[in-house]
Amino acid sequence: MTAVSEQDLQRYLEIATEAALAGGGVLQSYWGKLENIEQKGRPGDLVTEADKAAEAAVLDVIRRHLSDHPILAEESGAIGELANSPFLWAIDPLDGTTNYTHQYPFSAVSVGLLIDGYPRVGAIFDPFHEDLFRAAQGQGATLNRQFIQVSKTSKLADSLLVTGFAYDRREQVDNNYAEFCHLTHLTQGVRRGGAASLDLAYVACGRLDGYWERGLSPWDLAAGVVLVEEAGGQVTAYDETSFDIQSGRILATNGRIHTILSQVLQQIEPLANFQPIAIAES
Ligand code: IPD
Ligand code: CA
Ligand code: CA
Repeated sequence: MTAVSEQDLQRYLEIATEAALAGGGVLQSYWGKLENIEQKGRPGDLVTEADKAAEAAVLDVIRRHLSDHPILAEESGAIGELANSPFLWAIDPLDGTTNYTHQYPFSAVSVGLLIDGYPRVGAIFDPFHEDLFRAAQGQGATLNRQFIQVSKTSKLADSLLVTGFAYDRREQVDNNYAEFCHLTHLTQGVRRGGAASLDLAYVACGRLDGYWERGLSPWDLAAGVVLVEEAGGQVTAYDETSFDIQSGRILATNGRIHTILSQVLQQIEPLANFQPIAIAES
């Protein structure tokens, strides 16, 4: 295990914060002014000039301070020697692109640092509500510099959850539709926020009690995982084994509803007979 001092973690947190705020300024400047919305791959997987400009601003900050640290950024891919370093910055310059293109103000910049493959530092900035979420290993989690804690909800029936649906949902039978139905039935509600990093940050500050999702990338998860753990919550795989950021799956809760939510998720079978309604639009 790589030994990193408390001072170094604090320094990395300051750099993550500077980067997230820089990206957030770019998102504010492009708000409502997009001219270039492209589809990257699957239907709905969009990229805009705001994603690219925000990523450039984030990368500039990290490179300026830590030129030898490798980076995995959503729009640029891998930068630097990933195999030769214990560090990896995972950057989502605009988490919630679909929301952003519709001017639905729920998006964020997410800047996380993995050390030996596990998230240890994170900053998430929502420029529309000016919410700055920060956390580093062993140092607690904050929202706008005030310490935050996960909720105390102890029953699934009393909980408000959040989830999301990956862009491959139309090709995969295991697409989270069944989980959404069952958990909508068993809880006070399930939200679909549209920005995984903020879904996690909202669990960390107690606005939501739990979050699960599949089909995610390291840049969606890295910063938010640190937030939830440092706010006293729990992060695992669906079956409560250790969280693996490469799996793309996460179960993150306030801890109190973790086991029951895990048990429910493990019992759910995908909707194998789901027949979507066919529409013809020109
Ligand atoms: C997406 C959002 C969404 C989640 C998707 C992600 P993007 O990220 O986090 O909530 O459900 O799986 O890909 O594309 O807006 O950066
Ligand atoms: Ca994302
Ligand atoms: Ca993104």
